[in-house]
Amino acid sequence: MGYIDNMPRKQITFRDEVTEIPSTTYGTFGLYGYPAKFIPQVIAYILDEYAKMGMTVFDPFAGYGTVGVVSSVYGHDYELWDLNPLLETLHKVATMKQPKQDVDSLLAEMKCYTHEFIPDWSNLSYWFPEEFLSFLFRIWGFYHSLTDEEAKLLLTIPLLKITRIFSYDDIQRQKLSKSPKSKKRVGQLLKDNWQDIFYEKVKEEVYAVIKGVAEHHRLSPKPVESAVRGGVDALTMDLAEEMDILITSPPYLQAQEYIRHAKMDLFWLGYPESLIRELSKREIPYRDVEPCEIKSDIYHKMREQIEEEHLLNIFDVYFQGVLGALTRLQEKISSYLFLFVGPATLRGQPVPIDDIFRQHFTALGWTHEVTLVDTIVARRMFFYNNNPATGLRDKRMRTESLLVLRR
Ligand SMILES: C[S@@+](CC[C@H](N)C(=O)[O-])C[C@H]1O[C@@H](n2cnc3c(N)ncnc32)[C@H](O)[C@@H]1O
Repeated sequence: MGYIDNMPRKQITFRDEVTEIPSTTYGTFGLYGYPAKFIPQVIAYILDEYAKMGMTVFDPFAGYGTVGVVSSVYGHDYELWDLNPLLETLHKVATMKQPKQDVDSLLAEMKCYTHEFIPDWSNLSYWFPEEFLSFLFRIWGFYHSLTDEEAKLLLTIPLLKITRIFSYDDIQRQKLSKSPKSKKRVGQLLKDNWQDIFYEKVKEEVYAVIKGVAEHHRLSPKPVESAVRGGVDALTMDLAEEMDILITSPPYLQAQEYIRHAKMDLFWLGYPESLIRELSKREIPYRDVEPCEIKSDIYHKMREQIEEEHLLNIFDVYFQGVLGALTRLQEKISSYLFLFVGPATLRGQPVPIDDIFRQHFTALGWTHEVTLVDTIVARRMFFYNNNPATGLRDKRMRTESLLVLRR
């Protein structure tokens, strides 16, 4: 089955198009490894190319909040939502003022602190050895005792990162999971002078944040208005006011389980287990969704070919969830929709998500301007699939597509 029809499709390499942002990890963009994060150049390209002065920007699946940071650099007011509450904290760090902290005395205070903070997490001892736990309770006790917002922001990402290194989580994996490799890492730490290692690593990370924030300010962010809301379900929430531009990268079909990945960080930041469980139940595509009419024959043709019930369920929930939310939200968008989607396959069969989205939104009255196709340089690799047209094994590059739709 081939889905070839006449539509503008253009090859692009976003990171080469934008010279204002020197690298993908410049400034605060690389401080935290949020799964499936936007590279800032995609947003910079969009705002450069399409946005007029004074236009407002909205991202309902904002993740780390890259859309917000780049919007501030380009002088646009913005609104960000994500189901993941981490968005609010991480975005505060990414847009913080230049810190004036005395790092050594802050860390010296942390070392002497004695009150404990114990996360509301029933599985805590599965993820950390006993030896580390009482130490971490005091470290996080210090964090939660801080009343100086700047000091707290400065320590947030370093403590999250290093606490994870001191846990049994396999950091290379996108899901919270134990592995022989992660057990070995913890075993090695236990044999070493691990308290000194902990403080040393935190200090390095604090300096990385200071450097990132300094670079961020070199990009001259403007004093724009912003609303940033974590813990928001895009399927049920409505925009209070009309916005000009929607830029988003919705959840993936081969989903990442963002809440499961973020869980460890959320617990240490003080979110209760009951809330985290509640949020996991709202994640697309692991939830029940209201039916939504999908205006795409590609979608319906593909659907007919899926025999396995559980795959059909994922396929339906994914499109009904993402398109259900975006169909409602687009009503309040006055100028542009920019939808960024990655490659997806089901039973080894490529799913042309961008074409399905294009058909759906053009049927709703949007004009398709172009689809820009970028090769994923950071994860550049060949992957093998059956070519849907020939049924033969096919070798192709992984690509991501940006769909540009105009009102
Ligand atoms: C591809 S990621 C976005 C990454 C983002 N572009 C960035 O630069 O970090 C998709 C996001 O959708 C969020 N998400 C999943 N289900 C959601 C829902 N029901 N409501 C709002 N956000 C949801 C996930 O938490 C995840 O952060």
